[in-house]
Amino acid sequence: MKFLKFLLLFITIQVSAQQGGMWIPSLLEGMNETEMTNLGSKLTAKDIYDVNNSSLKDAIGHFNGGCTSEVISDKGLILTNHHCGFGQIQSHSSLENDYLKDGFWAMSLDEELPNEGLYIEFIVRIEDVTSQVLAGITDSMTEKEKQSLIDRNSNTYQKTVAKEAWQDTKVKSFYEGNQYFLFVTERFEDIRLVGAPPTSIGKFGSDTDNWVFPRHTGDFSMFRIYADANNRPAKYSKDNKPYKPKHFLPVSLDGVEEGDFTMVFGFPGTTSEYLPAVAIQHITEEFNPTNIAIREAALKVIDAKMKESDAVRIKYASKQARIANAWKKWIGENLGIKKSDAVAKRRAFEATFTKALKEKNLEDKYGNILPEFDNLYKDFGPINIKRRNFVEVFLVTNELMQMTFRAYQMEEAIKADPENFEKAKARLVGTLQGIHKNYDADVDKGVFNNVMPFYNKNVQTSIYDKTAFTNLDQALKLLEGNAKEVLKKLNKDVAYQYAKPMITEFYNTIDKAYQEKNQPITALQTKYMTALMEALPNARYFPDANSTLRVTYGQVRGYSPRDAVYYNPVSYLDGVVEKYVPGDYEFDVPEKLLELHKNKDYGQYADSNGKVPVCFLGTNHTTGGNSGSPAIDAYGNLVGLNFDRVWEGTMSDMNYDPEICRNIMVDLRYVLFIVDKYAGATHLIDEMKLVHPKKK
Ligand code: ARG
Ligand code: GLU
Repeated sequence: MKFLKFLLLFITIQVSAQQGGMWIPSLLEGMNETEMTNLGSKLTAKDIYDVNNSSLKDAIGHFNGGCTSEVISDKGLILTNHHCGFGQIQSHSSLENDYLKDGFWAMSLDEELPNEGLYIEFIVRIEDVTSQVLAGITDSMTEKEKQSLIDRNSNTYQKTVAKEAWQDTKVKSFYEGNQYFLFVTERFEDIRLVGAPPTSIGKFGSDTDNWVFPRHTGDFSMFRIYADANNRPAKYSKDNKPYKPKHFLPVSLDGVEEGDFTMVFGFPGTTSEYLPAVAIQHITEEFNPTNIAIREAALKVIDAKMKESDAVRIKYASKQARIANAWKKWIGENLGIKKSDAVAKRRAFEATFTKALKEKNLEDKYGNILPEFDNLYKDFGPINIKRRNFVEVFLVTNELMQMTFRAYQMEEAIKADPENFEKAKARLVGTLQGIHKNYDADVDKGVFNNVMPFYNKNVQTSIYDKTAFTNLDQALKLLEGNAKEVLKKLNKDVAYQYAKPMITEFYNTIDKAYQEKNQPITALQTKYMTALMEALPNARYFPDANSTLRVTYGQVRGYSPRDAVYYNPVSYLDGVVEKYVPGDYEFDVPEKLLELHKNKDYGQYADSNGKVPVCFLGTNHTTGGNSGSPAIDAYGNLVGLNFDRVWEGTMSDMNYDPEICRNIMVDLRYVLFIVDKYAGATHLIDEMKLVHPKKK
């Protein structure tokens, strides 16, 4: 009876857990392939990842290290999110050419705009190198010794890897350091901006709609990869040619309906799915609230100033979006954890784990793990918060403090070795120029006034009147002369004098204590992962996201956010018009779009119900970094562009729950509709391969 109950429990876990997880593309054969087929996929593991033939993976590029992008034509045309190309769109924008506000469309190749520093990286192949990397590691080694041997092994091995001269390699840790994989990569650096809708389409609904459904955002932008005469990666040159990819994604005109298979292929950044309950508690009850409060205080100022002035709006667009995005996500995460009773469920799971340890005689080996977590977090909690408050104030929200922080780093580098002077100075000059490109001292002063109290009650706003750092020319003057002169001038600056004791304390005590208390937690997390797999070997384990290429799959599904409410999985252009508020900061809509809607001028982009779909939901398990990832249909065609998750489901970074975790995608037909009907960039449509997989 007991066994039967266990078996039943196991079966239900297996079925409901058929979704969720971010899987390694080279290891899909077997369980994942079967699950995908059960969900409606017609693809084989080899269609997705193949080393010897072109496959879907060859169309997926890591966009500037933080987002995902995909190739959608044989001329290297790239699709990603508007919010992923935001920095580039902003950098080409001015009050005269306000591409943020009006959008941008290159009508021919020579109108496409180069972007210094922007790159797209593809994965050539993936190898399991666990045995090579862990060779010689023993239990008796300290964590430090282990890590240094791991680094050495991995560097030695990478030197032996067969690859082309223009390719690179990297080794990444999986399953909290229980497994290691090597990636051979190819990085393209001549990436040009091709098109972007106006912000009123690409960021429609702005912060009010961010992280929520129903959603009506056309969050896309387009770029193009250029390569040298041999079709290989090259720095920008006007002689470069559009890249000829190994594979590009055809675009489906048939769309999706509830229950259809979808797969999201991209580069998810970070998740922590195997945290103990005590950690989830710390994050939601202590860590998130302090972050939320500081960012709210900063946004109060930034938002108001952006509404007052177009110049400030353009300057602070990216910064505001970055601060607001995580702020709202943390609020949703807390909501979801609470709503799904995640902490209690995790405790219950831990009881199962503890029982399994007992049954398998593993108590001696692993029985101390959970109590030890409880102990360690008691100590770690306060210092983590203290450190985080510093980071939020000095490195995330306030730019004057950030400048003094970087100046401090220069001073320390010079003190360590006077030879460092020129290099450290150049680095600081770069930082100062970067910040001042989009700086407004008045906004920053307001932010300072609001956020500093979270770190130090001694708030001296008057430093803004006397410091050199708020003016680029004056700040650069501080850095003229030899090392001794520079340090002398720097130490006379009032802002520097104000910040230096806090930065010193950060380095000498706070960060040090944080590292000391965090390291045993990391080590214990590795041991916990090993223990889980040993004690409960039949569960379905996927590795946490680590900015490597992953596959996640699911189906198009609506969800119920609260009692008696159900969200349909698809939103339509009608909904954009419903939300439209003339002149509003978030919900205004271009005249032309309203006209297309009024005349039902939809071309080939309407659904069978005669409406243009805008966004849809799926059960794909995604996270930050999956922005811009393609949503691929059962046949390998592009149907959607991933860009967000629903509010109640953002907790999926710690606790994926198929009931309420949904990713949000732009329907590709909305992208095509905007490119074609709104922007008139029909040459781009002609370049793509449009298909009808459902009308065979
Ligand atoms: N929440 C999405 C993400 O995490 C979209 C962010 C951009 N949109 C915005 N309103 N800030 O990237
Ligand atoms: N918008 C997120 C990003 O920038 C992706 C959505 C998510 O976190 O789910 O990567």
